[in-house]
Amino acid sequence: MNDRYRVVVVGMGKRGMHHALAFQANPRFEVAGICDINPVRLNAAAGLVGGVKGADALQVASAVKPDVFCFCTLPNLRSEMIRIGISSGARLIAFEKPVALSSREGREIRKALAASGIKAVVSHQHRYGEHYRKVKEIIDSGALGRIHTVYGTAAAWMMHNLSHLIDYMRWYNGNAQARWVMAQAAGDGKMSDLHPSPDYIAGFIQFANDVRGIVECGAGAPDVPEVEYWWRKCRIGAQGTDGFAEVLTAGGWRAVTKMGSKSGGGGMNYDHDMPPYIQDIADWLDNDRKVHPCCFESAYAGFEIMMALCRSAVDGGQVALPLSDDADEIEMLRAYLAGRKVLPSTPANAKEYLEAEANIAGMSS
Ligand SMILES: NC(=O)c1ccc[n+]([C@@H]2O[C@H](COP(=O)([O-])OP(=O)(O)OC[C@H]3O[C@@H](n4cnc5c(N)ncnc54)[C@H](O)[C@@H]3O)[C@@H](O)[C@H]2O)c1
Repeated sequence: MNDRYRVVVVGMGKRGMHHALAFQANPRFEVAGICDINPVRLNAAAGLVGGVKGADALQVASAVKPDVFCFCTLPNLRSEMIRIGISSGARLIAFEKPVALSSREGREIRKALAASGIKAVVSHQHRYGEHYRKVKEIIDSGALGRIHTVYGTAAAWMMHNLSHLIDYMRWYNGNAQARWVMAQAAGDGKMSDLHPSPDYIAGFIQFANDVRGIVECGAGAPDVPEVEYWWRKCRIGAQGTDGFAEVLTAGGWRAVTKMGSKSGGGGMNYDHDMPPYIQDIADWLDNDRKVHPCCFESAYAGFEIMMALCRSAVDGGQVALPLSDDADEIEMLRAYLAGRKVLPSTPANAKEYLEAEANIAGMSS
């Protein structure tokens, strides 16, 4: 008898390959189908993982009838893949952040998943990094006293990184619900990107346990001088009555407590972070009580915060959570930001945001 969970992976790009190889390497899973609309990528993947292959996700999923339907397509493809995953009869859908591009789509996905009873996980796998976990361990030990502030900054834009920042801030804050947010946004350069985003968004989050969240993502975010690699200039941490602890995505961790200061290494590494993320999927499939740390409901709480920050940036003022209605936040931002230029905080950010935009304008003129 085959006791492996059978998996279909859709989208054999960077993240699809990470997922397919990590499923394949785990003895609890077998990659039984792969799909991509790009034949070069599909054939390259087929050389590494087996099973049915095809360009049509519905056809591949219908042929395989997987236990796990995994999709790693760009953010414009979410609802359709969720529908295919549900219709395939899978017991779990694994997909990539962001949850969706609007609260309207996110709420529909949540309703569809709840109605189907299917488990779902969203890949905020950085939390498996040793340095990320060390900060969590220090917070949980009580060494920081009562946590009053959690914070996160990233140089890359919102649809790439804000979902990650909020997820780990929530984790460091015991997954508390948010009560309201307030934000500002600037710059329309990345609104035409495949991860459509304001060039810069910054805001406050008031959590139900009275902890304050402070978040900044994009061109106006402060530098993380300890880290060279621009994409990994991310700082996430917590301050308490007795000290602080923080992680740098590519620069280890540090803490200052009443006992003195401490620091250690660690850098975000897909090869390190994917295996335990995938193992936790097997454990949740085996046992309903072993809920995956990256379960959909946790990701959705973070996604709502992100959408509320967008609404506040456009409408002004505080936005209460949970959200009680639907909107298309990216379209709201597109109208609000049209023609507005961002003021970058560092030369590296100027290069990524303003020069990249000038090059695109140059190509199209
Ligand atoms: N969790 C993380 O650390 C992390 C890191 C990078 C990217 N991401 C997220 O992962 C997702 C994918 O990013 P990526 O960098 O792997 O993108 P990618 O462009 O490398 O891969 C996407 C693949 O999907 C395929 N595709 C598009 N439409 C399809 C369809 N209808 N059916 C089948 N295949 C289709 C494309 O041909 C491509 O091969 C994004 O949402 C991104 O934000 C997450």
